[in-house]
Amino acid sequence: MSKIAVIGSNMVDLITYIDRMPGQGETLEAPGFALGCGGKGANQAVAAAKLGADVLMLSKIGDDMFADNTLANFQRFGIDTRYVQRVPGVSSGVAPIFVRADSHNSILIVKGANAHLSPVDIDAAAADLRECTLIVLQLEINLETVYHAIEFAHRHGIAVLLNPAPALAGLSAEHLAKLDFLIPNESELALITGLTVDSPDSARSAARTLAVSGIRHVIVTLGEHGALYVGEEGEFQVPGQRVDARDTTGAGDAFIGCFIQHWNRDGSIRQAMEQAVAYSACSVTARGTQTSYPDSEAFARFQQRH
Ligand code: RIB
Repeated sequence: MSKIAVIGSNMVDLITYIDRMPGQGETLEAPGFALGCGGKGANQAVAAAKLGADVLMLSKIGDDMFADNTLANFQRFGIDTRYVQRVPGVSSGVAPIFVRADSHNSILIVKGANAHLSPVDIDAAAADLRECTLIVLQLEINLETVYHAIEFAHRHGIAVLLNPAPALAGLSAEHLAKLDFLIPNESELALITGLTVDSPDSARSAARTLAVSGIRHVIVTLGEHGALYVGEEGEFQVPGQRVDARDTTGAGDAFIGCFIQHWNRDGSIRQAMEQAVAYSACSVTARGTQTSYPDSEAFARFQQRH
């Protein structure tokens, strides 16, 4: 089976379910709390692994009570953790998350150990990375590491995908042009292109500017409106699925995890997008990040019902 490498973050999600955010100086009771494994890189790796992908993870964990649990969590899903390494004297990455009753969220991240994943770590894993058919990246690690990974993939003819989250302005056009896949949401697309993105039409126009600049496949996630493709295969939109949303945290990562598993296995972008839209819709019907990602059987049951 062809292997996927995820080079990225892991975080400890501290999820508080709130009625509203407290004002300055105010103490407010919140209805619920959950501690979970998260981080965009880890979420994408776990979603893909739950669906049967063979995943190699490059990530850094801290020197604290969270680290063993993060490592055990990767291993529980059969993820190759030879390059998930502890950083002495540094905290694990943590993400305080606030989820409102309408299912939407606000997230703070503290990178912690994730900031220590460096180009040297990519070079140290080079032999194993060369065995992979896809390298998947996000922006919760240092940008120089992301750029180094893009260069590495490009040099070795390995497909490379960037999910530019959290949103960051000023990404290098030279590196973006070397991507096979860029998968932003609407606000990330707006920040990358400097264009207004507030509808599927404006997303299409902005995505075209990136496709013209050299990225082979641009896929814009549109939340409940599905996802949009612009690139070598033309332009098309996969419609969204209506579900009763409880918690949208990590829905974008669910999309990527499912997309990479299907594309890497079958090679069809449109089919992988259709599966990914359904998978991310399924994920918002349950609480939490990784805890809301179904395995293949549970996903098949969801698809029968919808
Ligand atoms: O995309 C959701 C993720 O963003 C959470 O799991 C949190 O850890 C932050 O990285």
